Amino acid sequence: MPSWPEPDWSVRAVMRYGFETLAIHAGQEPDPRTGAVVPPIYQTSTYAQEAVGAPRLGYEYSRTANPTRDALQECLAALEGGRRGLAFASGLAAEDTLLRSVCAPGDHVVIPDDAYGGTYRLFAKVSQRWGLDHTPAQVSDVDAVRAALRPGTKIIWVETPTNPLLGIADIAALAALAHEVGALLVVDNTFASPYLQRPLALGADVVVHSTTKYIGGHSDVVGGALVVADDRLGDQLAYHQNAMGAVCGPFDAWLTLRGLRTLGVRMDRHCDNAERVVEFLSSHPRVSRVLYPGLPEHPGHDVAAKQMRRFGGMVSFRAASGGLAAGGESAAVEICNRAKLFVLAESLGGVESLIEHPGRMTHASAAGSPLEVPADLVRLSVGIETVDDLLADLDNALALEGGNV
Ligand SMILES: Cc1ncc(COP(=O)(O)O)c(C=O)c1O
Repeated sequence: MPSWPEPDWSVRAVMRYGFETLAIHAGQEPDPRTGAVVPPIYQTSTYAQEAVGAPRLGYEYSRTANPTRDALQECLAALEGGRRGLAFASGLAAEDTLLRSVCAPGDHVVIPDDAYGGTYRLFAKVSQRWGLDHTPAQVSDVDAVRAALRPGTKIIWVETPTNPLLGIADIAALAALAHEVGALLVVDNTFASPYLQRPLALGADVVVHSTTKYIGGHSDVVGGALVVADDRLGDQLAYHQNAMGAVCGPFDAWLTLRGLRTLGVRMDRHCDNAERVVEFLSSHPRVSRVLYPGLPEHPGHDVAAKQMRRFGGMVSFRAASGGLAAGGESAAVEICNRAKLFVLAESLGGVESLIEHPGRMTHASAAGSPLEVPADLVRLSVGIETVDDLLADLDNALALEGGNV
């Protein structure tokens, strides 16, 4: 009987397997004790040792290492084409650990002028107080990023696509710029997921994820991750993961890994449905503009087509005022309130469709800052339901009380 080959998830070996194979097998070889096909939830804080200083299989304490977390971390590293993956309690915990591992007070970071509001809050309200300065720049414009650099710049930080305006940054060009000045390029790959985009292969140094989103994929777990291509940087981050302690617990790691196994098939359906939603919104009189990198008129379309497999499941649009005295903001809020199948909720990337008003919800913390989002903006996380049902729900939500324009 043929036996399963010795697992080898080194970068070279990983190149031999396709994405879906890695998602299902990387880091997930049958449990060495029982043969369990699914990595068990090792819900333990500590591990019996053979003798003083002689832990079995290297495990001592679950903040430092846990087999369920290891399975997730190996799978994430394989899918991103990295050397080391590290899983955290949330996306923001991953970001904070990264910043405090590679930066020191007095350093400087270039951040996107369009980013997740919580990421901006981390820079503006937490890291700034600790002495880490930042400059927002339009990351879709390489010259604007260059102009924002300072002698102490340690990181160029980008999201691509951005949250919520779906701007696109050229990863390869920004990696070259960062390396020219001895900085790291960090890419928040949450919106694309490794199925659609692999920043390390384009020259990025660190990939950040809110695994809460597409990687977990079922809106039932909060988590974060870092993946790096360099062993030394990986060791430095792993040291801080343990020293700072914001780790992903075993059950959360197990749930995240269960979601991750189907990432490829889910992402293709998210993209299919998003394309139909974009088509519907593009000709709707209540919509003044659709923001989606798959549209040829999107300013980042060519770069997105070069670095992404497809364009993702996130769609934003700006609501036309529709003659309402209160304008586009009131129309946007009304649309969010009227949707039924699209659940009015923060977050994204789950199997169910969500709708939200970024200005008053996910990005409220950016109000009054250079990252403030337009008041008439609506953000959709297009799920994998039957697409005709989604279109019917949007049709109903967009038929505002004031009648058609
Ligand atoms: C692009 C992006 N990065 C990071 C985060 C933070 O992740 P978490 O909520 O898991 O801390 C979010 C959360 O919405 C996000 O959308």
